[in-house]
Amino acid sequence: MKSFKIFLKKREIFFDRKFHRNILEVLQNNQIPIGYQCQLGFCGLCKVYLKKGDISYFYRPIALLKSKEILTCICRPVNNIVIEIC
Ligand code: FES
Repeated sequence: MKSFKIFLKKREIFFDRKFHRNILEVLQNNQIPIGYQCQLGFCGLCKVYLKKGDISYFYRPIALLKSKEILTCICRPVNNIVIEIC
């Protein structure tokens, strides 16, 4: 399965590996306001809370993260996920 749902608040958006590089890109394409800058895992501005589900990082995040925080610029879902903007 290459397409997954991303739930946040009352919205449901779709991540498709054919069209999206990372979760940040899907959030931006759906006009969901989220900060970002480096898009390399340094700055931490694109972090969200992962409330349910699993993601896969392309490489190890450099920004400091608390438990359940993920960097959307360097990961993609591996199943349906529930997130909350920090
Ligand atoms: S945009 Fe900087 S860590 Fe994601």
